[in-house]
Amino acid sequence: MSISSSSIPNNVDLESNRKLQKALVAWQPAFLEWWNDMGPRGYQQDDIYLRTAVSVDTSGWAHYDYVKMPDYRWGIFLTPSDPNRTIGFGDNKGKPVWNQVPGEYRKELRRLIVTQCDTEPASVEQQRLLGDSAPSLYDMRNLFQVNVEEGRHLWAMVHLLHEYFGRDGREEAEDMLVRRSGSEDSPRILEAFNKPIDDWLAFFCFTMFTDRDGKFQLGGLAESAFDPLARATRFMLTEEAHHLFVGDSGVSRTIRKTAELMLEHDGRDVRDFGAIPMSIIQKYINEWYSASQDLFGSEDSSNSANFFAASLKGRFGETDGKSYDDNVALEGCKELQWAENGVLTNHEIPLRRAMNLELADSYRRDCEKALNRWNLNLEKMGMEKRIYLPSNRFNRSVGVFGDAHYDTKGNVITADDFAKKKADWLPSQEEKDYVKSVMVPCRKPGEFAPWITPPRKGIKGNPLDFDYVCFNQR
Ligand SMILES: [Fe+2]
Ligand SMILES: [Fe+2]
Repeated sequence: MSISSSSIPNNVDLESNRKLQKALVAWQPAFLEWWNDMGPRGYQQDDIYLRTAVSVDTSGWAHYDYVKMPDYRWGIFLTPSDPNRTIGFGDNKGKPVWNQVPGEYRKELRRLIVTQCDTEPASVEQQRLLGDSAPSLYDMRNLFQVNVEEGRHLWAMVHLLHEYFGRDGREEAEDMLVRRSGSEDSPRILEAFNKPIDDWLAFFCFTMFTDRDGKFQLGGLAESAFDPLARATRFMLTEEAHHLFVGDSGVSRTIRKTAELMLEHDGRDVRDFGAIPMSIIQKYINEWYSASQDLFGSEDSSNSANFFAASLKGRFGETDGKSYDDNVALEGCKELQWAENGVLTNHEIPLRRAMNLELADSYRRDCEKALNRWNLNLEKMGMEKRIYLPSNRFNRSVGVFGDAHYDTKGNVITADDFAKKKADWLPSQEEKDYVKSVMVPCRKPGEFAPWITPPRKGIKGNPLDFDYVCFNQR
């Protein structure tokens, strides 16, 4: 079997790179086998209206057409290289960027790439059964779009492993198709990627909060001195924007439906109409926001200091000229309060050790923008109810908040109090079962499930009742 740009669209000169071709020829069948086993179950023979990345031009990088998912052309694209790019931060600031992996940073770079790469197939696995309960063809298509693009991100990162990390890179690439989300023996690397996503509110919270963590991780890597990594992640961010839109608008449409029903049927439980009570939506947000905060790693972290010092991973917008004046970060501290002996105590974290916290703070601000929009909608509708983000201290397992218990406002509480109040803050099994029970599939073009409003517009200028998915014979 040979590989050409017709089967793998690329701008990495795959045609003349025999070594890379050989590596990918061996990896591609394993990938397809993984996709068939672990990709969306039951829809591989259907025609889905999908966008495919076909170039890196800012105008027209994507092509829209009907595709059967196994025929999707998972391409390898890096934003074009800038021969004058210099390192923007850390101890190597000002030197030319690297086009090969420096020996002294090989281990750290591999770890950063592997950790990011592992999340891509993980999310496809987590979402594999959701097609069966899609609230509309529009939403179903969006799910599959997210899934095939996470598959492409896997390709993009695996390309780096094959091309720049020799034999251990190849082994890491193989392991990407061996680990499984939620598996006891061989789980995915990060915890939030082992949580099941078996209803659509969880899917929307995942794409709103967890994919958004991805945006900030990719943004940090897009600053990297290792230029191929910076260029690969920068292009991934263009696709990621749609995933975040799916999550943001999905939660927003769910809230809107509930608010509409509350206004229309004053005082009645929206469960009578197959919708999801605001309190349950809030609990889902609490759960997914706190799990996603854990993904940033500890707020006080020597690893993050090392990655920054070595110019491997920066902050979000590190070199955009607006976000940060000081790209060396040898001076200054971040202040943070966490519990010590049951009392909130001030702590100072030297700036370089606080790089995870910097990223997590940018992330929170980004989430808040969406929350403000949702609340503005509620206000405009004449609702008093508001949605909030829990404190970063709430429900954490990783980092400086992981050792104590806090309420959603960030006050320190005892383990007993947390256990007593947990059901007020996080969805119970019963509530999750309820949400699952309203997930009735809607397969007629233009039809939407009773728990969610239609979006404002369709995909690529098409109407809402467009055939976003065409089912073929099973
Ligand atoms: Fe991704
Ligand atoms: Fe994504």
